[in-house]
Amino acid sequence: MVTLEGVGILTVTRPEALNALNSEVAQQLVETAKGLDGDRSVRAIIITGQGSKAFAAGADIKELASQNYSQAYNGRLLETWRGLDGVRKPILAAVNGFALGGGCELVMMCDIAIASETATFSQPELSLGVIPGMGATQRLIRTVGKAKAMDMILTGRRITAAEAEQMGLISRVVPQEQLMPEALKISRAIAKCSAPVVAKAKDCIKRGLEVPLSEGLRYEMREFWSCFALQDQKNGMAAFLQKQNPVFTDG
Ligand code: HXC
Repeated sequence: MVTLEGVGILTVTRPEALNALNSEVAQQLVETAKGLDGDRSVRAIIITGQGSKAFAAGADIKELASQNYSQAYNGRLLETWRGLDGVRKPILAAVNGFALGGGCELVMMCDIAIASETATFSQPELSLGVIPGMGATQRLIRTVGKAKAMDMILTGRRITAAEAEQMGLISRVVPQEQLMPEALKISRAIAKCSAPVVAKAKDCIKRGLEVPLSEGLRYEMREFWSCFALQDQKNGMAAFLQKQNPVFTDG
């Protein structure tokens, strides 16, 4: 993990296994993200994979292969990842290559996803005799809709970065060498905003995935009103009226 100008960069580093996500990686990544969430000097988090071949080629099949039901249930297999749900700060996935199975699911756990032109995505779990276990059956349908979710999960078809962008799985595609500069550019833009306001926006959007529209709109309204309790609302609007750049204090 490195931090760069208020941005925490988490890199999955298991090149020998194409950055497959074993339990140690899961634990470290989730705990580090939670730590960064509590660090006031960090305003956004980027997750990427080492090298240019793989973001993450999935959960670690070698680790999963010998598990039985009792071990999976009692050991809460893959549940560690749920920890990312509680992170308030925005998390950006910079997808640098294969994002397969759990790798693709990790992309969907993030708030913003951008990819290099050579990145590919798939949910190949059915070919391994299991269903997705890191959220794809739920997040994919909310991200790309039923038709594409069924297609990806039931066929395991690998899709390109361009197709992933077209279907809304990711928001931008850039040349490989531009991936981290672009991820940092996006993160720095977010970092300039008021941290509690950014957190409120993220929270409202995530809430919208879970509740009916009328409840989501009510939730947004209350959170919007609560912004007026912040000095940052005063600073932001005063700066606009004075034709100056806003300076936010996170208060
Ligand atoms: C463990 C993996 C791995 C994985 C690759 N490796 N993916 N190890 N878990 N998910 C290892 C290989 O065993 C190999 O190690 C090394 O990485 C290099 O991989 P190769 O296959 O030799 O590379 P290549 O021929 O370029 O093929 C790349 C690939 C292929 C197409 C990405 O590796 C592949 O199909 N990987 C599995 C992708 C997958 O099915 N992911 C979903 C996992 S299940 P050795 O030691 O042999 O050299 C999942 C479900 C989660 O994520 C939730 C439900 C349980």
